[in-house]
Amino acid sequence: MMHLGVNIDHVATLRQARYAGMLDSHNTEPSVLDAAKAALLGGADSITLHVREDRRHMQDEDAFAVRREIPLPLNLEMGATPAMLAVALRLRPDFVCLVPERRQEVTTEGGLDVVSRMEELRPLVKALLDNGSKVSMFIDPDLAQVEASAAIGAPMIELHTGRFANTLGAERLAETQRLIEAAKVGYAAGLEIHAGHGIQVANLADLAAVPHLTELNIGHTLIARSIFVGLQQAVREMKEAIAVQQWLA
Ligand code: PXP
Repeated sequence: MMHLGVNIDHVATLRQARYAGMLDSHNTEPSVLDAAKAALLGGADSITLHVREDRRHMQDEDAFAVRREIPLPLNLEMGATPAMLAVALRLRPDFVCLVPERRQEVTTEGGLDVVSRMEELRPLVKALLDNGSKVSMFIDPDLAQVEASAAIGAPMIELHTGRFANTLGAERLAETQRLIEAAKVGYAAGLEIHAGHGIQVANLADLAAVPHLTELNIGHTLIARSIFVGLQQAVREMKEAIAVQQWLA
């Protein structure tokens, strides 16, 4: 069964837009914890949140509260830095997804360059694994990045589906092909294969061509849909749409 990881970062983005600096105030909203509860009730298989180096959205306390209160696996997205490693070692999330981080970007753009950072990433991955967190590398569907991820001992990769999502026609076909190749090479290397970024109900049918996927990490579209139907319902609809694709496959 395909797992759905629900990324609730945008709930913190909305909260911070109004209440940064007054998070303990009686009127602070929306609640990240309530969002995680709604995702749980909607059928999420895990909760994903990204604690950024500059803490502009999720705060450390959000991650610890979700870890404490929500009986679902927690997937922490983080930049590959010593400071974030220290947070992850205390939090002990079930999963850590290492992502590139540039302060200027609104959301994560582009995959992690594992190839050029192998020696730096290898001990970080080992420290996380030794601490009980399963690690994935968020990478572009590039064979060298897949092979480098396997070589440094990461058990999982999350393939960046941003370009796939943002294109149509021949470009989408070409990007789907890259995802297919990357998934095959990763699977052959013993990696668990996830996908994330820009996934929507409307592109699930095309994504279903990619083999070996076991988890989709989805955020933006769920929060967008939740404005109209609530988060629990938005997650439920996505679970149903994923189930239909698997049934068709
Ligand atoms: N996976 C990773 C590593 C991400 O950084 C993000 C957010 O950019 C997502 C998945 C979810 O992407 P989206 O919000 O476009 O669904």
